[in-house]
Amino acid sequence: MADSSMGNESADQNQENPYLYRGRTRCSLEEDAKLEREHFWRIINVFKYYRIYVDERLKRCERQFLSLPRRHQQLLSGYLDKLAEIRRCMECNHKILQDIVQNCTHMFENMEYDEDKNKRRAGPSSTFDMDKLKSTIKQFVRDWSEAGKAERDSCYLPIVEEIQKQFPPEKCEVSEVKVLVPGAGLGRLAWEIANLGYACQGNEWSFFMLFSSNFVLNRCEKENALTLYPWIHQFSNNKMSGDQTRAVTFPDVNPNDLPPECDFSMTAGDFLEVYTDPDMWDCVATCFFIDTAHNVIEYIETIWNILKPGGIWINLGPLLYHFENMANELSIELTYEEMKEAIIKCGFVLEMERESVLTTYTENERSMLKYLYDCVFFVVRKPAVRHSSPENCKESELKDSDKKTEPSTT
Ligand SMILES: C[S@@+](CC[C@H](N)C(=O)[O-])C[C@H]1O[C@@H](n2cnc3c(N)ncnc32)[C@H](O)[C@@H]1O
Repeated sequence: MADSSMGNESADQNQENPYLYRGRTRCSLEEDAKLEREHFWRIINVFKYYRIYVDERLKRCERQFLSLPRRHQQLLSGYLDKLAEIRRCMECNHKILQDIVQNCTHMFENMEYDEDKNKRRAGPSSTFDMDKLKSTIKQFVRDWSEAGKAERDSCYLPIVEEIQKQFPPEKCEVSEVKVLVPGAGLGRLAWEIANLGYACQGNEWSFFMLFSSNFVLNRCEKENALTLYPWIHQFSNNKMSGDQTRAVTFPDVNPNDLPPECDFSMTAGDFLEVYTDPDMWDCVATCFFIDTAHNVIEYIETIWNILKPGGIWINLGPLLYHFENMANELSIELTYEEMKEAIIKCGFVLEMERESVLTTYTENERSMLKYLYDCVFFVVRKPAVRHSSPENCKESELKDSDKKTEPSTT
């Protein structure tokens, strides 16, 4: 359960590392800021509406149970007690969710959101948003619990080991190796990399993730002091009632326990919009990220552009295209084969490839239904010296006259 002092501690803004906010420019700056504010408050509302939403779900279960013939009810003597237990767990989740959004209006270094003067009551949220919130709760298990260790070992460890192999501490000054983790989720992979001494920045776009990573990274110090019940929303495929209501404590480590002078930061905003400065990063590490693109070629081009010559891109993940089934959204669903061809035509050199790395994603290990991802894992390098212009990357869109003045890269 949430430590009740958490909210008060968090009021001290000076103790927190604010996030840098850089949003996307869609229209006029004013209109853009207005849309951004609306979006911000909509997501806060989802966190507030959670309790009402789960309560309604439980009331429906109760009504349906009570509509059964008496003899059926008598066969299920523990059913209402189970629902009462789920409601108790939901209240604990609700308290943590309120702590997460407490003081969020000040969490960005260069963006202030007005206080909610009306102290609005939570209004209904869409099923889509509520699903995102439930996924965010499960993300705490993946990133910050002992229960998520096996999953992290399958997803993050190969990336971390590859970084250590490419930039060995005995051969380079790791604090000068700049690593970027786009789509950082709750920040554990970026944190692990920073914990090894590398200069690491995570980037994330979703407010669900940003509020939650800000909470865990900046306001949770005591190991396993907090408890969530991530599986209570799953009513199917449970073997035992206790499986649905089992607790998960977090954080399994103190997120503040980073080496002194450690260069670890998070930025908020769309990866494509935030990272436009060329030749900045020694390594870009993507985990379960590239399939979030409308058009993955844009991600490939951006990674190419921001990597220093000689820099590497490490990727691990599936190709579960996030926009595939969304009406009116661009979604280019490439096979791995097609994507690899595009990556190489862009100029990258493939240095390592494993086409079958089995992983899970926010898995409920007691569920009767589990998904297994058969991920690709690769390392590609932007050559230090290029022998020819990449065929299709942005740089090749230079006018002919510009091309002539470009220094030779051979
Ligand atoms: C499937 S999750 C993976 C999170 C984390 N890398 C992990 O392995 O647990 C993909 C993440 O990318 C974020 N994301 C999607 N599009 C993004 C964008 N354009 N810029 C930054 N983050 C983005 C999502 O909000 C989400 O947190």
